[in-house]
Amino acid sequence: MVIYKRVSDLQSFLTPYKEANKKIGFVPTMGALHEGHLSLLKAAKQECDIVVASVFVNPTQFNNPSDLEKYPRMPQKDADLLEQNGCDVMFLPEVEDIYPAQYQTLHLDLSPVDEVMEGKYRPGHFDGVVNVVSRLFDIVQPNKAYFGRKDFQQVAVIRAMTKKLNLGVEIIACDTVREEGGLAMSSRNLRLNEAQKKEALVIYQSLIQAKKMAQENSPTTTLAYLIDALGQSTLELEYAEVVNPETLLPLTDEWIDGATACVVAYCGDVRLIDNMELI
Ligand code: PAF
Repeated sequence: MVIYKRVSDLQSFLTPYKEANKKIGFVPTMGALHEGHLSLLKAAKQECDIVVASVFVNPTQFNNPSDLEKYPRMPQKDADLLEQNGCDVMFLPEVEDIYPAQYQTLHLDLSPVDEVMEGKYRPGHFDGVVNVVSRLFDIVQPNKAYFGRKDFQQVAVIRAMTKKLNLGVEIIACDTVREEGGLAMSSRNLRLNEAQKKEALVIYQSLIQAKKMAQENSPTTTLAYLIDALGQSTLELEYAEVVNPETLLPLTDEWIDGATACVVAYCGDVRLIDNMELI
């Protein structure tokens, strides 16, 4: 595996692959890699000729400064994991490589997918995601890019952005990888102690129960159950929604294919996000 920090070095390396029409797969990450990221890498390796993974903790997508400060950083361990799992190129830029002085911030209207849920509770977050992902796509020029379904709304926003800007990158969403017991893998789980990891299982358990309930109840009733189950737990629920998978707008009376329950809850000061397709 080769590691590049500078945009121009990465691009010089990739040019011959592009000229030879090789398929470039891209796995953007913020590091602190876990099995979820490795599953994206695996999918990219299966479908592409060369795989680039980026590790960049993007400051512009953190609306909470202490979340940015506490975000785990372990570039050496990440490099080892990427190498052991067959990544070809690791891109490890600094903030000034991604956002040089002349960088012009993009402001896209991706409504409604960027407005609801995370859009409401983390103002500015998706602007940051859109800017970093479009900038990374511009640098890497991948054919396919891989994202985890755990961040269900992020995938929808990135799809909408790719379409709006006509970037020609195929967005692949990979299934959420879960720890034993069902907790969705996340770099943030590193900040949970053993007791909190057990408490956090209520998210997966209530989503599973909601999926069962959805067979015989309306979206509204299913959501009420979810809110109640999480409300009674030791977690602090930020929001739960049952949404249309395309628009991400809430469903009330009628189910549609792919209807998905989305949850965000705090376990201590760790913000956990998860979702499950119900129908
Ligand atoms: O999902 C993430 O880790 C980040 O939001 C991403 C897509 C790498 C952009 O910084």
